Amino acid sequence: MHDYTPGFGNHIATEAVTGALPIGRNSPQRAPFGLYAEQLSGSAFTAPRHENRRSWLYRMRPTAQHGAFTRYAGTPLLRTAPFDETPPSPNRLRWDPLPMPDTATDFVDGLVTYGGTGDVAAQSGVGIHCYAATADMNDRAFFSADGELLIVPQHGRLAIDTELGRIEVAPLQIALIPRGVRFRVALPDGAARGYVCENYGAPFRLPDLGPIGANGLANPRDFETPHAWFEDRDTPFEVIQKFQGGLWTTMLDHSPFDVVAWHGNLAPWRYDLTRFNTINTVSFDHPDPSIFTVLTAPSDTPGTANCDFVIFPPRWMVAEDTFRPPWFHRNVMSEFMGLIHGAYDAKEGGGFVPGGASLHNQMNGHGPDQATFDKASSADLKPVKIDCTMAFMFETRHVVRPTRWAIESPTMQLDYDDAWAGFTKAALPQ
Ligand SMILES: [Fe+2]
Repeated sequence: MHDYTPGFGNHIATEAVTGALPIGRNSPQRAPFGLYAEQLSGSAFTAPRHENRRSWLYRMRPTAQHGAFTRYAGTPLLRTAPFDETPPSPNRLRWDPLPMPDTATDFVDGLVTYGGTGDVAAQSGVGIHCYAATADMNDRAFFSADGELLIVPQHGRLAIDTELGRIEVAPLQIALIPRGVRFRVALPDGAARGYVCENYGAPFRLPDLGPIGANGLANPRDFETPHAWFEDRDTPFEVIQKFQGGLWTTMLDHSPFDVVAWHGNLAPWRYDLTRFNTINTVSFDHPDPSIFTVLTAPSDTPGTANCDFVIFPPRWMVAEDTFRPPWFHRNVMSEFMGLIHGAYDAKEGGGFVPGGASLHNQMNGHGPDQATFDKASSADLKPVKIDCTMAFMFETRHVVRPTRWAIESPTMQLDYDDAWAGFTKAALPQ
């Protein structure tokens, strides 16, 4: 078990060795025990205070102590915006789960990009990846200089060691690794699979609640940040970084996980999705799915997110005289969906299974499949609980452009359009 501090975006001070954290100075002339002070900035120095994110790390060696990075040959399916391998597709797309690799593959080498948006050089958009891994990252660490990583496990726990502490995360929990923070992943349950949103833009934050009030949706206290932790190991260690889409590697003669103490508000965290306070109608109709927003990464246009992370958790359905599943819709936003477990209530006809994914791009119609429509249109509208389900969506203002792998993979379902093929024509009065 690891120790965590509750709260979202709070300033935290933590030390793994008593007395390691300087008092009253960020960078004293001599830090305790000869530790090296290093500021890790997640925002511009001059960002407004409520958006400013930075932490001070006190470590056994400065991060700067490394040789040149050289190109890394692994992760052949990891991509970065701009995504221009294939023409952006207006088609509704759906995939079977990413198969587990049949050779030992760790978290980094197991990343596969399905698509993404924007331009990493312009710090706008997201990369959307899945991972399927069967091996621990032992003496190597990874970081993305391109964006923060929102990790959504679907199968198997991840034990994530980061520079700022250790996080264990299971399916129905999520973890966030800030841009630039080095981490390694071990697999306590063996094989693991899940989804990753790499956010090139402004960091994820909690959405404003407006008339909902001071409480609801994801509550700040349920986000958990690890305490300081370090390992003192002078053995060869590989560090891989993703930089403008390219993978680069270098070797250290020591573990990079040597931060003995830190303070600040830029840190990894985990969150248990079952703690989400779900809000919905108690009369008729149902609100837009934005009511299910866990996190939002804003763009420069108010209310129009670079990326929202939205979940569809267990909930009571009580609306009267209402078609209760998600309605038919077309949207200026683009929607990449995944399923952690159970069934999604707009796809009673099957095909969208845990570990799978779907993509509905800007302005292209989608919604309930035939089976869902038929069932919901004639259902007896008693209160009913949708249980044992957890679907999610990475929703973005930009069109999601699939990678070549996503389009050509045998996991892509060529018959997805058939989900909407059988509707009969409305019968007007003669
Ligand atoms: Fe949708």
